[in-house]
Amino acid sequence: MKLAGKTAIITGGAQGIGRAVAIRFAREGADVVIDDRIAAGGAQDTLAEIQKLGRKGCVIAADIASLADNRRMIQEAAEKMGALDILVNNAGVERRGSFWEVTEKDFDFVMNINLKGLFFATQAFTQYLISAKRPGKIINMSSVHEELPFPHFSTYCASKGGVKMLTRNLSIELAPFGITVNNIAPGAIETPINTKLLNNPDLLKALLDNIPLARLGKPEDVAGLAAFLASADADYVTGATYSVDGGLLWNYSEQ
Ligand SMILES: NC(=O)c1ccc[n+]([C@@H]2O[C@H](COP(=O)([O-])OP(=O)(O)OC[C@H]3O[C@@H](n4cnc5c(N)ncnc54)[C@H](O)[C@@H]3O)[C@@H](O)[C@H]2O)c1
Repeated sequence: MKLAGKTAIITGGAQGIGRAVAIRFAREGADVVIDDRIAAGGAQDTLAEIQKLGRKGCVIAADIASLADNRRMIQEAAEKMGALDILVNNAGVERRGSFWEVTEKDFDFVMNINLKGLFFATQAFTQYLISAKRPGKIINMSSVHEELPFPHFSTYCASKGGVKMLTRNLSIELAPFGITVNNIAPGAIETPINTKLLNNPDLLKALLDNIPLARLGKPEDVAGLAAFLASADADYVTGATYSVDGGLLWNYSEQ
């Protein structure tokens, strides 16, 4: 069990990748705090899975787009669980829109969650670790779109590109405190965020044609990497991005 004795907090843990990470962490022996926008429904289902595995956990409803919620989330989590070791910044959203039509509202919606929210959740967690004199591990759920263009999703790409540079910067700034920061860059993973794609056979085929391993990823594919990055096996890993994309990012061939 890679994470025995550790406590993790996972944002957006009610479904999709966040839920799979929460369950995998519990399997590896961690206690898990699940954040999501609302405490009912999916977040409670994730908690029930964690408890079935014999681990402790709790749900905290916090909107990570809110600075006040981020601070409360970390404070409440530390108080309820006694200590925190790992933050997984997983909550994220996307909005399709051609660049010339993007509204300020849509821009703010995506950036306030994917970049500003992640920034201040990480800041609150870092302040906690420094004052508690504890080392820690921060894992950001970025995307292949921190590198790869995604036309009509310029806000999403800008947010994930920002996460890439934030990770690199913080890996240096937080190293003296024993805090590591890494990104996971999923490709196309079967989760509710991709419902439209999964229901459109033409779009799905076009995407699969670009994935060398010829399948979409499963949330569990991402969770395995998160468990490694959260564990002592990754103590010397910081400032890195790991793709989990079936080869999508670097797919290129000449006939
Ligand atoms: N699924 C993919 O193909 C894919 C690919 C690359 C990157 N990602 C990234 O992985 C992360 C998780 O994606 P997913 O596919 O599981 O998404 P999802 O939509 O299935 O789940 C996201 C979860 O985050 C929560 N959330 C959204 N905004 C929030 C907020 N303001 N505060 C708290 N919680 C909030 C949602 O309620 C939901 O439970 C995201 O950051 C996404 O950008 C996903």
